[in-house]
Amino acid sequence: MVRHDTPLNFAIVGCGRIARQHAAAINGCKDIANLVGVVDADRARAVELAESFGAPSVHDDLDAVLARADVDAIVLCTPNALHAEHAIRALAAGKHVLVEKPMAESVADAEAMAIAATRAERVLALGQTLRHTAPIRWLQDHRKDFGRLRAVEVSMCVHWDGPQVPWWRDRSREDGLIMSLFAPHALDFVQLVFAGEQPLNVHAETARFQRAWAGEDEAMILLRYPGGRLAQVHISYNQKFIVDRKTVHFDDAMVSIEDGEYARVNDRLVVEPELPVGDPKRMGGRDFNHYFRTQLREFVAAVRGTSHRSVLHEEGVQLTRLLRRAIDSSLRNAPQID
Ligand SMILES: NC(=O)c1ccc[n+]([C@@H]2O[C@H](COP(=O)([O-])OP(=O)(O)OC[C@H]3O[C@@H](n4cnc5c(N)ncnc54)[C@H](O)[C@@H]3O)[C@@H](O)[C@H]2O)c1
Repeated sequence: MVRHDTPLNFAIVGCGRIARQHAAAINGCKDIANLVGVVDADRARAVELAESFGAPSVHDDLDAVLARADVDAIVLCTPNALHAEHAIRALAAGKHVLVEKPMAESVADAEAMAIAATRAERVLALGQTLRHTAPIRWLQDHRKDFGRLRAVEVSMCVHWDGPQVPWWRDRSREDGLIMSLFAPHALDFVQLVFAGEQPLNVHAETARFQRAWAGEDEAMILLRYPGGRLAQVHISYNQKFIVDRKTVHFDDAMVSIEDGEYARVNDRLVVEPELPVGDPKRMGGRDFNHYFRTQLREFVAAVRGTSHRSVLHEEGVQLTRLLRRAIDSSLRNAPQID
């Protein structure tokens, strides 16, 4: 039974890098959310997160938190390969789940998660955090003013100097490195603009510039949709001057979104940040936590059955399908990446 007048009780599962953003978001939204527990197979990590963010209890096993009647929802921040198993167990235990991107490693796993959510009548939402920005919300609300959509360009280039966590090192090209870690953000934007349609063609080419990992760290994806509409995506882990640019070409205007904070129609600025954005061209120079707070509010609204912009499991399955098509294309087109 979801209460509308009291905050939802959250447990975070997987206390690594991204868990800190979720913990800060929960603590930043005390009117709707409480952090009541944290879980990590490595207990020391769970203890560290609990101490930093004031979580009252620590577990080293998922089942222990799933057995707790006072936990309403799980934020799942485990490595990609564990998302499906952990989400399905949490849903079966009656918990709502906000799962980090990518939803799953395979379409079959994403479909199994969706079935589990439907069967349990619980919310399963994706952590497509970079969608929860003011410019993207503005685009969603105003796109009808600009006529027919023709093309989308996304360029998201950052600089990671080698693996940020040990499991990045071992991801094969079949698993996808940048294709599974970063392409979900870029393709989510494309999917949002194309309102969930699947493209007719997906062509991806990948390359590797760094030797500290086995997978690809640079990719270009070209997509063709019915009616001649096109999209292109460039993602990189090798760009020292950070680029985050999304451009949508309509018949009557061009909408461009820069650094996740600014939106322009042609040259006219229509959205600018409410808070200082730091230095978005430098790694670590940009504060993202407001996106996590917005995402959390949307998730709680979905759980409460009120109007929301969460990315729910049906959309997640479509996005997983699109992502797998891109990874499969990259494997066919570039058997040698070096
Ligand atoms: N939304 C974003 O922008 C964003 C950014 C970074 C990472 N992510 C996603 O978040 C997820 C976690 O990434 P990360 O960088 O924080 O990784 P991480 O390795 O830092 O954290 C993962 C944690 O999970 C724990 N863990 C592993 N197996 C476990 C198990 N069986 N039970 C409980 N805990 C277990 C590990 O000990 C580790 O502390 C990934 O799916 C990643 O794609 C999303």
